[in-house]
Amino acid sequence: VFSLRLEELHGSLADPVLGSIGFLNEIMSRYPNAIPFAPGAPNRTFVDGFNPMPYIERFVRYAATTRGMGEDAARRLLYEYGPSRGVINDIIATAWSRDHAADIAPDAVVVTVGAQEAMLLTLRALFGRSGDQLAVSNPCFPGIVGAARLLGVDIATVDDGPDGLDLDQLRGACQLARNEGLRVRACYVAPDFANPTGTRMSVAAREELLALAVEADLVLLEDNAYGFTAATSDELPPLAAMDQHRVAHISTFAKIGVAGARVGFVIAAQPVCGEQATASVLADHLAALKSMVTVNTSPLCQAVIGGMVLAHGTSLRELGAAKSKLYRENLRLVLEALDRHLARDGRPPQGVNWDRPEGGFFVRVYLPFAADAALLEESASRYGVLWTPMSTFYLDGGGTNVLRLSCSYLDAEQIDTGVARLAELVRSRL
Ligand SMILES: Cc1ncc(COP(=O)(O)O)c(C=O)c1O
Repeated sequence: VFSLRLEELHGSLADPVLGSIGFLNEIMSRYPNAIPFAPGAPNRTFVDGFNPMPYIERFVRYAATTRGMGEDAARRLLYEYGPSRGVINDIIATAWSRDHAADIAPDAVVVTVGAQEAMLLTLRALFGRSGDQLAVSNPCFPGIVGAARLLGVDIATVDDGPDGLDLDQLRGACQLARNEGLRVRACYVAPDFANPTGTRMSVAAREELLALAVEADLVLLEDNAYGFTAATSDELPPLAAMDQHRVAHISTFAKIGVAGARVGFVIAAQPVCGEQATASVLADHLAALKSMVTVNTSPLCQAVIGGMVLAHGTSLRELGAAKSKLYRENLRLVLEALDRHLARDGRPPQGVNWDRPEGGFFVRVYLPFAADAALLEESASRYGVLWTPMSTFYLDGGGTNVLRLSCSYLDAEQIDTGVARLAELVRSRL
C-alpha cells in the first residue's frame, strides 16, 4: 500500500511539543476514574446547563440597534460568511478599554479561533526575515512553541524565574543574537500567572520589560489567558495597557466565556509603514492572513461570546468575575490540601516543596525524585491521580523533579481526595 515517510513530512511533526497534549489526553482516557489535576480545562459548573440562546439574542438586538442594521440583517450576520477580522470587535474594544482604562480602537482587534490562532497569525506576520528569533520563557506554554515550530520560527529560551521572565537573560539573549548577526524579533510573555509556572510579573518588572523591548527593538506578545484570576483589589495593568504599540495582546474567551466557542482575540495596534504600505495597523495584516487560514471565526460563536460580554456590562472583568472567584477558591483548596496532606507536622518532607501562586490555574510541586512518565503511570494506575510532568514544558531539559497540578477542573472533594492520593504516592517514594 502507498505510505508516507515521516521524515518527508514537516519537521514540526517530529517535535515532542506537538505530542504534549495528545500524551495527556491518552493517559486521561486510559484512567478515566483517576482524579485529573492535569488539564487546565474550565470547570464543568460553568458548562453544565449553559444555554447560548439568550446571548445570541442579546447580540442580535445589539447589532440591530447599535449598528442600525435592523434585525433581519443582524440575524443574517450569524449565518453567513463574515469579515475576517470579526463581528464583535467593537464589543471587545469597548470592554477591554473600559477594564484597563485604555483606548483600544475596534480596528486594532482581530477575533480569532482561540488564542491559538492569534499566536499563529501574529508569528506569521512578524517573522518575515531569516535570522529572526522568538524569545520564549522556559518552561513555556506549548501552544506558542508549537505555533513557532509549525512556522519554522527559531526560538531563543529565557528562564521563567520566581518573578516571571528573567529580564537579564532576555537582555543576554538579545545581545547574543546581535553578536551572531541575528535578532530577537519578538518575545512571548504571560505576565499574569503564566502557564505552567504560575508566576506573575510586578509592575516594576513590566516597566523594565517594556523599556527593554524599546531598547532592543522587539515586539512583545502578551498572553493574558489567566489575568482574570487576580483578586479584585490586586489586578495589575496588562503590558498592552502600558504601551499598546510595543505589545500585541493575545487573549481568549476559553476561560472567561465558554471554551467550546473557540473564540479568542488579538489586539495589534502597531502602525505598519513602508514603501508599499498604505496606512494600516498590524491587525489589518493579521486579518489578511486569517482570510487564508480560517477565513473568519464562526459568527455564531462570536455572537454567543459578544452577547455574554454585553450581558456583563460590556466588561471582560465582569464576565470573568464569578469564574475568577471559583478558581481562586480552588487554588486555595489545593494549597490547603497540600499543607494538610503533605506537611502533616507543619513541614513538608525533606526535598518536597510547592509554590504558592496568587492566581492562575497551576501549582508546581517539587520532589526529590523524578516526576516522569513512569511515575505518572504509577500515580494513575495505583493511586488514581493524574498530574502533568513539568519536563513536558521545558525546551532544553529541566523540570525533571517537578510536577504541575491544575486546580481548575475539579470540585472541593476531588481536590482533597486527589491531593491525599498524591501525598500517599510521594510518601511511598521517600
Ligand atoms: C497560556 C495559555 N494561553 C492561551 C490558552 C487558550 O488558548 P485557546 O483560546 O486557543 O483555547 C491557554 C489554555 O490552556 C493557555 O494556557
